[in-house]
Amino acid sequence: MAKGNKKRKKTFLTDVQTLRKRARAHIERGAVTDGYSADRETVLKLLNEALATELICVLRYKRHYFMATGLEAQSVAAEFLQHANEEQGHADELAARIVQLGGEPNFSPEGLAMRSHAEYVEGDDLVDMIKEDLVAERIAIDSYREMVAYCGNDDPTTRRMLEGILAMEEEHADDLVSLLEHFGAS
Ligand SMILES: [Fe+2]
Ligand SMILES: [Fe+2]
Repeated sequence: MAKGNKKRKKTFLTDVQTLRKRARAHIERGAVTDGYSADRETVLKLLNEALATELICVLRYKRHYFMATGLEAQSVAAEFLQHANEEQGHADELAARIVQLGGEPNFSPEGLAMRSHAEYVEGDDLVDMIKEDLVAERIAIDSYREMVAYCGNDDPTTRRMLEGILAMEEEHADDLVSLLEHFGAS
């Protein structure tokens, strides 16, 4: 190994002894080590807001799934159901990460709609429902993008999880635009 390389490595990495010592201190904090440089309280608050958003989205998509009626409703209803299940998956991922970071996931129905970024709108007909879902997805996309930027390199695990969710919300928005185009309503 070149001499210069060795030097760079030394200044970049924490030595083994210090790493071992740090890991033994505060083991009750679990995954949250001294090297965690994000503002944990803020990350937990953001994750709980995202959790509320996902739960509201599950409820709205479920409502739309059961209320979708008419000749062409079947394929749209199937899309609503798939989205509902995927939003539930996001909610579960967020809740698990909150616990991993030493927080508590807020599943309280009280104030749920206030904590959520997206709204619960029932919609009058099929096209209206799709439009409301699209608005909600666009809100989620923007808020996840901001959260990803906030986490940056301070909490790469949370950031990667949020990036995965963000990619799926973008797919959802795309699906909904296709549906609107199909109905000639975009
Ligand atoms: Fe989601
Ligand atoms: Fe979504």
